[in-house]
Amino acid sequence: MDAKTILKEMTLEEKAAFCSGRDYWHTKEIERLDVPDVMMCDGPHGLRKQLGEGDHLGINKSIETVCYPSASALASSFDRQVMRKLGEALGEECQAEAVSMLLGPGLNIKRSPLCGRNFEYFSEDPYLAGELGSAYVESLQKKGIAACVKHFACNNQETKRMTGDSVVDERTLHEIYLAAFENVVKKGGTRGVMCAYNAVNGEFCAENKALLTDILRGQWGYKGFVVTDWGAVKDRAKGISAGLDLEMPGGPHATGEELVKAVKDGSLSETELDRAVLRILEFVLKAAEEKQENVTIDRENCRRISRELSGECAVLLKNENVLPLGRDKRIAFIGEFAQNPRYQGAGSSHINVPHAVSALEAAGDKNVIYARGYDIHMEEGDPALVNEAVAVAADADIAVVFAGLPDAFEIEGCDRQDMQMPRNQNELIHKVAEVNKNTVVVLYGGAPVELEWREQVAGILCMYLGGEQSGAATVDVLYGTVNPSGHLAETWPVKLADNPSFLNFPGEDGVVTYAEGVFVGYRYYDKKEMQVAWPFGFGLSYTDFAYHNLRIDKSRMCDTDTLLVQCDVTNTGSCFGKTVMQLYVRDVESTVRRPIRELKGFEKIGLDAGETKTVSFVLDKRAFAYYEPRCQDWFMESGEFVIEIGKSSREICQSISVSVEGTTMLSFTITENTTIGQLMKHPKGAEFVKKMMASGSTANTETMGDGSEKMVQQMVLEMPLGALVSYGRMTKEQLEGTIRMLNG
Ligand code: BGC
Repeated sequence: MDAKTILKEMTLEEKAAFCSGRDYWHTKEIERLDVPDVMMCDGPHGLRKQLGEGDHLGINKSIETVCYPSASALASSFDRQVMRKLGEALGEECQAEAVSMLLGPGLNIKRSPLCGRNFEYFSEDPYLAGELGSAYVESLQKKGIAACVKHFACNNQETKRMTGDSVVDERTLHEIYLAAFENVVKKGGTRGVMCAYNAVNGEFCAENKALLTDILRGQWGYKGFVVTDWGAVKDRAKGISAGLDLEMPGGPHATGEELVKAVKDGSLSETELDRAVLRILEFVLKAAEEKQENVTIDRENCRRISRELSGECAVLLKNENVLPLGRDKRIAFIGEFAQNPRYQGAGSSHINVPHAVSALEAAGDKNVIYARGYDIHMEEGDPALVNEAVAVAADADIAVVFAGLPDAFEIEGCDRQDMQMPRNQNELIHKVAEVNKNTVVVLYGGAPVELEWREQVAGILCMYLGGEQSGAATVDVLYGTVNPSGHLAETWPVKLADNPSFLNFPGEDGVVTYAEGVFVGYRYYDKKEMQVAWPFGFGLSYTDFAYHNLRIDKSRMCDTDTLLVQCDVTNTGSCFGKTVMQLYVRDVESTVRRPIRELKGFEKIGLDAGETKTVSFVLDKRAFAYYEPRCQDWFMESGEFVIEIGKSSREICQSISVSVEGTTMLSFTITENTTIGQLMKHPKGAEFVKKMMASGSTANTETMGDGSEKMVQQMVLEMPLGALVSYGRMTKEQLEGTIRMLNG
């Protein structure tokens, strides 16, 4: 039977009950209608399948499996291919484990470095997050496993995560916080969306019609179903009306009684309930249809993939001729993380790994000596450990300190209080750097930290949280078996107070105002010309790349055209390497406040020494547009734009101008306070201004001195329509008639 036929056969009670899960991880089975249950599990940097008691906080054990790099690391790959490999590997594992939906990826924007779940999120940039998210979703779903992007929307902090209200203006909401979700709906074709716990602009996401229906389904055409974050339901009937479908987790209390009552007393229409039931049924039937029997997986191969992906994500932040390490050199590995690696965050995404490879173990027979240096569980330094480490460092050609945030610093459910590293690690690094000028720091952690010793060390390699093989991947990169090619998916500010959300994070009384608007991450730091530790998109390599010959296929385009942008890249160094060519778009002049530049394209390209390749990008209207609340759509203003090709948001290597022409004009209500300048941007108003100018007298600017013509022009543009009456150019009645005609 198909979903519609099944729906017709269901009683009101069955339908109501079906809208909640059976337990922590399953939908309900309807035996008499042959509707099977399906299982969903947490991920997405591994499979957290719980066989025993379920929970949504990573407390009870899940099956032993492979842990891949977390989103914070994955995003640094700037590589859709990395995401595809991960999606495929996880898709196969889900098939083998009879799991139909993998919850994730997290698409929330990194508004503040303090968000406790930043390790589960990709970036401060919605284009990057959306593109990587889409690549992953597509490949996972190709394997017959549904993705469930989360947490929709504006869940950018953990403080008051279940009750807080994120107050965001409409333009910022669409441009920054929704754009990645939009990408994954339209391009990735996600079959699941998980709504967030928090409220957006006063309405809980689980009951937010604007988000769940008007935008998600109305504007974006989403056809899948919406599941609550675990326990996010407040008012069940209101949620269903707003566009919510499935409540999770379920359990014995989830009988649907509340919904039956709401339908009976008329506060919820049965049509609205049917709509939700149908969407869940469609998901369940498709999952059943795509289920494959007898799939086995080769976990050894999965581990190899995990190691490879982790290497692709490594970001080399600083290298003063110290890396790669020579095999003939005597190397000191210092710090507990070298032996006991940190490779994932805590909470619902926690993967149960039988064995995580440490860098020390991966170093094998290399000439490495080890000193523990600090105790991960302590904040204060231990003099004995420090002394031993300093002695080992002094005796080595190169000292590599393994440092970063301990587990307790980054947890689902709590935000960090500051951006500091543990005191004992900072002290140790200072002391080691004093005795060995070739000191390299390897950083593990899911988010930026303040690095007070940044200038003192010769090298810094950031591995983020790179999965169970990140120790091995670290050794691959340190010794040059893998040439680092990761780039920062978020700006590393010098200090926390520099961050744009600093004064409004985590809000007060459960309300957080996103007062910085669209100026999030590099959009803010670049506009303010602020010094940063490392800019968005930054990452070094063991080779060099030159970008040249940027070209476009037309110098003028309108909003229905596409623009082909091409740029050549040459590996000018002496070994194979990968570079991330980043394409930014800059609006030269705009009537609304816009960032200096915004990422609109990126490609990762591998090149042998001396090799040259051409990279192509196709841009459409969206690359130039901003979200205009007055037309509730993306709007492209006519004028000059610059296409920039760079290695980070601060290192632009090539640029070229293009003139774009928007064929639509903004329509808005004209009043007597509308200025002539504004009127010129109105479809009917522009015509009126032209006629008025043609018939009016021209000011005698000759006697007014240099630049006066421009001044007069500016004054006219700023003049409100009402002034035409004050200056005797029209009667009040004529003006009213004109305004009526223009608005008509
Ligand atoms: C988390 C989700 C997770 C769910 C199920 C919630 O607490 O916010 O990300 O998928 O639990 O474990």
